[in-house]
Amino acid sequence: MQTIAFYNLKGGVGKTTTTVNMAWHAARWKHRTLVWDLDPQGAASFYLGVDDQTPGYKAGGLLKGKQPAGRFKRETRWPHLDVIPADISMRNADVKLAEGGGAKNRLKELIAPFGESYELVVLDCPPTLSPLAESVFAAADYLFVPVIPTHLSLRAFRQVLDWLDDKKFKHLRVVPFFNMVDRRRDLHVQMLVKRPPEMKDGLKTWVPYATHVEQMGDHQAPVGEIAPYTPAAQAYRAMWFEVVERLKL
Ligand SMILES: Nc1ncnc2c1ncn2[C@@H]1O[C@H](COP(=O)(O)OP(=O)(O)OP(=O)(O)O)[C@@H](O)[C@H]1O
Ligand SMILES: [Mg+2]
Repeated sequence: MQTIAFYNLKGGVGKTTTTVNMAWHAARWKHRTLVWDLDPQGAASFYLGVDDQTPGYKAGGLLKGKQPAGRFKRETRWPHLDVIPADISMRNADVKLAEGGGAKNRLKELIAPFGESYELVVLDCPPTLSPLAESVFAAADYLFVPVIPTHLSLRAFRQVLDWLDDKKFKHLRVVPFFNMVDRRRDLHVQMLVKRPPEMKDGLKTWVPYATHVEQMGDHQAPVGEIAPYTPAAQAYRAMWFEVVERLKL
């Protein structure tokens, strides 16, 4: 089993949409896949069509390890794709993780038993550099970071890199990629052509700015299903193949 996370300190850059599209591709290739929604907004759960209340779910109890996390996994309507949905109780995740100590490795410990049932765990993260984020960095093998080709988005990514460097998460492979690329914008084109040094080891595939991505919310489904022959769907497919190559799935 491998654990990957979609993360950026910056909000609204495409963590959740990419989580859902990559997890859907993984499941289509019959890799048993679990998305764990760690964001109180519950957007990944929503896109996967699991946005009703899970009986007994309280993020606090879950993160403190009071009950096995597997109890809260739900099937999606796609084969091989399950989700642990989030609700607003996830807003206290940091406090709950801190209670009882050992916060940093808690998520890793909670995920470990999933190795029996899943090949891939995909974490959708909220945009914070909090104890929850630290827990994600300790649990994940790969951190995929969506970056919009703008100075501020790149700056947020640099801040994450510096912070990771300080905290010495040596095991973690950080892989950025460009999202929401608009080729009518000079800055976007410049950054694609002359990649900033931080992006050099990132994915080659970039996702264009596309209304089909926004339409995921209308259908509660990934782009590959609602608009399979569009540039955005093609980008996610190409991205999946790059991800597979990195993960050696
Ligand atoms: N490639 C794209 N083209 C157009 N819109 C996009 C694209 N990627 C994401 N979006 C839109 O941008 C918004 C933010 O995307 P998303 O929710 O995936 O970001 P996020 O980083 O998870 O945000 P948050 O920090 O709030 O969790 C959504 O409305 C989504 O539909
Ligand atoms: Mg999100």
